[in-house]
Amino acid sequence: MGRKHGPVPFPRRGTVASNDFIEKDFRQELARTGIHMSKKYKVVITDFITEPLEPENQILGDLSDVIALDGSREQDLAGKIEDADAIMLYHILGLTHKTIEQLNRCKLIVRCGVGYDNIDHALARRRGIPVANVPDYGTEEVADSAIGLMMAMIRGITRINSLLREAIGPWMYTQVVPLHRLRGRVFGIVGLGRIGTAAALRAKALGMDVVFYDPYKPCGYEKAVGVRRVEHVDELFAQSHVLSLHCPLTEETFHLIDRRTIATLPAGAYLINTARGAVVDATSLPEALASGQLAGAGIDVLEQEPPPADHPLIVAWRDPNHAAHHRLIINPHLAFYSEEGLMDMRTKGSIACRKALCGQPIPNVVN
Ligand SMILES: NC(=O)c1ccc[n+]([C@@H]2O[C@H](COP(=O)([O-])OP(=O)(O)OC[C@H]3O[C@@H](n4cnc5c(N)ncnc54)[C@H](O)[C@@H]3O)[C@@H](O)[C@H]2O)c1
Repeated sequence: MGRKHGPVPFPRRGTVASNDFIEKDFRQELARTGIHMSKKYKVVITDFITEPLEPENQILGDLSDVIALDGSREQDLAGKIEDADAIMLYHILGLTHKTIEQLNRCKLIVRCGVGYDNIDHALARRRGIPVANVPDYGTEEVADSAIGLMMAMIRGITRINSLLREAIGPWMYTQVVPLHRLRGRVFGIVGLGRIGTAAALRAKALGMDVVFYDPYKPCGYEKAVGVRRVEHVDELFAQSHVLSLHCPLTEETFHLIDRRTIATLPAGAYLINTARGAVVDATSLPEALASGQLAGAGIDVLEQEPPPADHPLIVAWRDPNHAAHHRLIINPHLAFYSEEGLMDMRTKGSIACRKALCGQPIPNVVN
């Protein structure tokens, strides 16, 4: 995600939503639970969101001070977060034991986003602090981005654009042969959760043969969605013309895609990663693109964001003489983003904090 997000242009009245960020039911609940409360709490936003904090204040302002620390590293929080009653965390930085051990009255850490691999949630649980995420703000955006990356590559769009802008080769389709008809090609998915399912439905609509590997999905889900299931990830790799990653980053999925597994894909496959950077060993990609084992890769997320300029993938991508220059798309953790989704993250995160402060059940606790 990289950079902070400053003031958000709020939706105008009568467009996406009214200028109030709170739905009617929740406003009634606010009146019921909050009207007699004095402003006695402190809610801290660690990173990414800066003043003005209109959505947060509208939901929390009557019972809490809301403070945006605008941190870029965990150590920026020291001395300012220990007495927080609730914490909203985005993902420029993480919360390790160094911070979590110092929290003395925290009732909730909410990760305003899906992945919570940047919080020591096991330690938080041991200390009695629930950790929640906001899983339902950007499902469609990320699925749209995965399909967008695939389409830009598989139809030759970015490659021919990149070649011709640099005046390389003839003004002809022959520069990107062979391209294959999309219908019937196998769209392989690792992780058929919210985003994986949304991507599956989109790929199905394009006529693709959708196959997934997800050992944690109950039997029969494949029938409901109308896709094929494989029991072993190697079966998925062996047939995926496009491999799209939608699993969380865990010990099991760390560097799931590396030199060895890329070699088991059909020659000329496309790799899409909108999940988490460390699911792919990105140092294996330059060679795979140069050899043609990968015809293209669409990478929204990297292990370190922003990446160091001397990362082998970045070096290859910027090198006009490397195949990756024309065959690799890198985005700066962009897939989550839409104005509407960002507002959902902020309001849903704030609502979770309010529930925690009011002693109500907290949605989407993950630890
Ligand atoms: N690029 C972005 O901007 C962006 C935005 C939101 C989410 N994400 C990432 O997208 C991913 C998916 O998000 P989601 O909301 O669909 O999550 P989800 O929890 O709904 O789905 C994840 C799925 O992965 C499955 N899974 C877990 N371990 C697996 C394994 N070892 N092998 C195969 N499948 C496994 C789970 O069973 C689950 O069905 C997460 O990594 C999240 O961090 C990225």
